[in-house]
This record gives sequence, structure tokens and C-alpha cells, in this order.
Amino acid sequence: MAETFRVLLSDTLAPQGLEVLKRYPQIQFDIKTGLKPAELAEIIGPYHALLIRSSTKVTREVVERAASLKVIGRAGVGIDNVDLEPTTRRGIVVMNSPTGNSVTTGEHAISMMMALARHIPAANASVKAGKWERSKFTGAEICNKTLGVVGLGNIGRIVSERALGLKMKVIGYDPIITAEAAARIGVELVSLDSLIERSDFITVHTPLTDDTRGIVGAAAFAKMKKGVRIINCARGGIVDEAALADAIKSGKVAGAALDVFVEEPPPADHPLLKLDAVIATPHLGAATDEAQVQVAIDIAQQVADFLIEGTIRNAVNIQALSPKEMEILGPHLRLAEKLGRLAAQSISESPIEIILDFGGEATNVKHDSVTNAALMGLMSGFLDEALNVVNAPMLARERGIRVSERRTREASDYVNTLKLTIRTASGAHEFMGAVLGHGVLRITGIDGYRVEAIPEGYFLVLHNRDVPGVVGAVGTILGQAGINIGGLELGRDRVGGTALSVFEVDEAVPPAVLDKLKTHPAITAASLLKL
Ligand code: NAD
Ligand code: MLT
Repeated sequence: MAETFRVLLSDTLAPQGLEVLKRYPQIQFDIKTGLKPAELAEIIGPYHALLIRSSTKVTREVVERAASLKVIGRAGVGIDNVDLEPTTRRGIVVMNSPTGNSVTTGEHAISMMMALARHIPAANASVKAGKWERSKFTGAEICNKTLGVVGLGNIGRIVSERALGLKMKVIGYDPIITAEAAARIGVELVSLDSLIERSDFITVHTPLTDDTRGIVGAAAFAKMKKGVRIINCARGGIVDEAALADAIKSGKVAGAALDVFVEEPPPADHPLLKLDAVIATPHLGAATDEAQVQVAIDIAQQVADFLIEGTIRNAVNIQALSPKEMEILGPHLRLAEKLGRLAAQSISESPIEIILDFGGEATNVKHDSVTNAALMGLMSGFLDEALNVVNAPMLARERGIRVSERRTREASDYVNTLKLTIRTASGAHEFMGAVLGHGVLRITGIDGYRVEAIPEGYFLVLHNRDVPGVVGAVGTILGQAGINIGGLELGRDRVGGTALSVFEVDEAVPPAVLDKLKTHPAITAASLLKL
């Protein structure tokens, strides 16, 4: 008898998605919406697949009780309602539907910008209240105004294209797109500071990550033009809500259009909801019939294909390789991804080109997948999009990043080596690693400095002058902060020259401790990396 699969739909999906599931006799599905995590944890045990939108919270507690779960399908883009760490550890594939609602969400952002510029919601309410207040609602023209787009992914690009059609000047910031790729869609790529300073309207289209949380905050508002207008149809928290309320009250910001909030629904006494200059919608970015049908069909088909054929599409946490391939390639893929992640956290400019050099026995492995794993590591800090070895090259290409591979003849102490070189507008950075016996990985070099570090956990990386006392001073400062050092690697160009020190630390070093380290006269840079 054919295997049967139980699928739980814990959020409301368009009926067209259910029709897809009904085509497969092996699939039985239940619809149980509005569950709190504890209630979901209670019933998740027998299900092989979970289909969600944004309301279901897949917490660690849920994952721990999901004994049969193979796949989570998210009808939509953001997977911030899924705790990916335990899910990935359990080998559960998490898939999203990355493009089905992009146009709809882009159109919502444009609508919000227009509504904000012309006070449509308040004017509508006023007319319906029997008033005719024409001068009260004088607005702003958007033609020839500068729109700053933070995040030029699927939605940011759609918004840019529409805004250009409305004759706006569009400038954009995204750390993993090149100026050439941005220019191809008519967008001038600028630094975040320049975008903040030059824009009349600012719209954010990034995922919510540690880097983007509060990216539009008090410091940014201070640099903005007076009268700027802010649009957030991405995720609550990318624009700092308290700082936005202050900036509106001070008159710096003329208005804000918000589709998303840190807490949804926002509490009734939320300070932003009390301000006339704020217009708001209840997370409606993706709420059109067309988008809901499309994401429901996409995700239902992806989940069915995975359950029945094992095909992985748009997975955000697992690569599309068979177990046999993984056995041979696994360590090299893991090393390449770690080098990519190391690079992403170490460079501050957009990559223009990446080169992967394969040394020793590494020359015999499947180059494409390893290079793509490096690309995945490099870009995964920036994208919500499902990244895997299949689509990473396409996404890099879209962003104008050139990719190449070489066999290296450089002599090395290691049998299998990988060197990832990232070229940016101002220079090149190198990250080297090796696969030792039994798949053990090492980082063996950073920007020409030799190190030998296990690529797991937190690293404090210091650039310093090679003078006595640095290690002791760092040990004291970390000790005072209660941070334990698990290992230490020192590399230097020559005695008394410049050095790179890599401290393996047991926990994250807080920003205040990093700042304190930077005050040491011999330390020129200090950063915390997590691998
Ligand atoms: P995407 O992955 O295609 O693009 C995100 C872009 O953000 C990438 O190009 C990435 O490089 C960029 N980025 C990452 N970190 C950045 C940083 N620090 N500064 C500047 N740019 C940065 O995603 P998308 O499909 O365009 O979606 C964007 C966001 O919109 C997602 O967070 C998603 O959850 C949200 N969204 C909201 C709704 C809604 O209903 N309001 C609907 C769909 C998507
Ligand atoms: C998304 O990330 O796709 C959106 O937040 C839309 C949604 O799920 O409602």
C-alpha cells in the first residue's frame, strides 16, 4: 500500500491550494486554524507536513513535539514565524513561496506612498463625516521626488520599477547588489547614509534580521531631510517605532505609512496610532485574491512534490542534494558555506566578483555545488529568498556578482583547501579553509594571515599592531565582561608588523565590550563573527 501523508493547515489558505492537495490520494489534510504554539505542539505529532501563512508560530516547543514532521510550507515570503534552528537540526525542510505575492506587496507599498502623500485615508473619513475640508488635506506631489528603497530584492525591485513609471528619481541601498545590476532597473545604488540624506520618501523591503532591526532609527531620522515620508510594508521593527513617533512629533518626518508592526495587532494605545500623520493597514501587503491564490497553489504543489517525490524547491534551510552526493560533497559544501558566511560578516561593501580556488584533493569535487554553497553562505545573511545550490548562482547573477572557479597550484600544508576571494569596488579579501580527515573543517587564513580555527560559534577578530600586551589586555577586558575564551589564533605579517588575532569565545561579545577593545592603542579594528 502506498505511503500516506498527513498534512495540517494551521492558517487559512486559498481554496485553490486545497484543490492541489486533493489531487493526491496519498495526502490527507486537516484544517485547524488559530492555534497557539502550545495547542499546535499538542496536536502536531502525527503530521508529516505543516502548511502555514504568517499567523502560526512554529516555535522550538512545536518542533520538539513534531515527531513525524518532514516539511513546513510557508504560503508567503517571510519565515520569521518559524524557528529555523531546531527545525533544521531536526532535518525538517522549510519551504516558502518567494515570488507569488511580490507584485501585490509592491503595489501595496506604492498605494501606501500615494495615500500618504495625498492624505487619502483622513480626507475620506472627513468627507464621510459630512465635512468638505479642502485646504486641510493639501498633499505633496511625488513626481520628481526622490524615493529611497532599502532592500532591492523581489519587492524592492518591483517598487522601484513602478516608482520610476511615476517619474520619481529612485535611489537604492542593498549590500548584495552591484551598481551595474541596480542601474539596469534604473536605480542609482547609493550608501545607506546617502539614501537617508537624499530621499523625500523612504520605503523598506528587507527581511527583519539583526542587521536590519531599527536600520531606520533615531540616528537615521537625524540625518533625513525635513518633511521626509516613511513607508514600511516589510516587517515591523525595521523602522524603529519609538524613534519614528518622536521624529513625527518633532516635525522632521511628515508622515508614515505602516503595514506592519513589531507587535501585531499593535496595542490600542500604540503611540504611532495616535498620530494623524500615520496611516496604517493590518498587514495587508500580500492580501489580494491574486497573490493569495498564487502562494497557496505554489506552496501546496511544492509540499506535495516533496512528500511524494522528494523534490525540494524553495527550501530555506536545506540544500537540494541527494544523501549520497551529500556524503562526498558534504564537508566541502559546509566549508564553502562557512567561508561565505565569514566573508559576509567581514566585508562592508557589495561583492562584485567571487572566485573560489580549489587546492589538493578539493580539485576533484563537484565544483559548481561547492561554489554555490559559498555563494549561499555569502548571500544568506541578506536574503529571505529560499537559497540553495540550484538558485544561488541565478540570484548572484541578478545582483551582478561575477563568479569563477580555479584550481590552485599554491603549495599548502593541507591536503584539501578552498580559498574564497571576494572582490569589491575598493579591493579584494581572501578567506581560506581546509577539510581535514573525517570531514573536520578549519579556517586556515584570513586576508593573508594564517590562522587555524574551528568554524563553529563566536569569533572575536582583531586587527592589531604586533606589540606586547595585546592578548593580555583583551583577556582582561573579556574576563571583566565574564566572557570565556575557548581558543586563540594569532597571525602576523612580520615580527612587530600588523597582526590578526582570532579569539574563539563562548558567547557573543556585546557592542560595549567591542567598543572598549577598540580604545586599546594597538587595536585598529574589532569585530564579532558567528559561524
Ligand atoms: P528578498 O529576499 O527578495 O529581498 C530582500 C532584500 O533585502 C535582498 O536583496 C537583501 O540583499 C536585502 N537586504 C538584506 N539585508 C539588508 C540590509 N541590511 N540593508 C539593505 N538591504 C538588505 O525579499 P522580498 O520578497 O523582496 O521581501 C522583502 C520583505 O518583505 C521580507 O521581509 C518579507 O517578509 C516582507 N513581505 C511583507 C509582506 C507584507 O504582507 N507586508 C508581503 C511579502 C513580503
Ligand atoms: C509574507 O512574508 O509573505 C507576508 O508577510 C505576507 C503574509 O504572509 O501575509
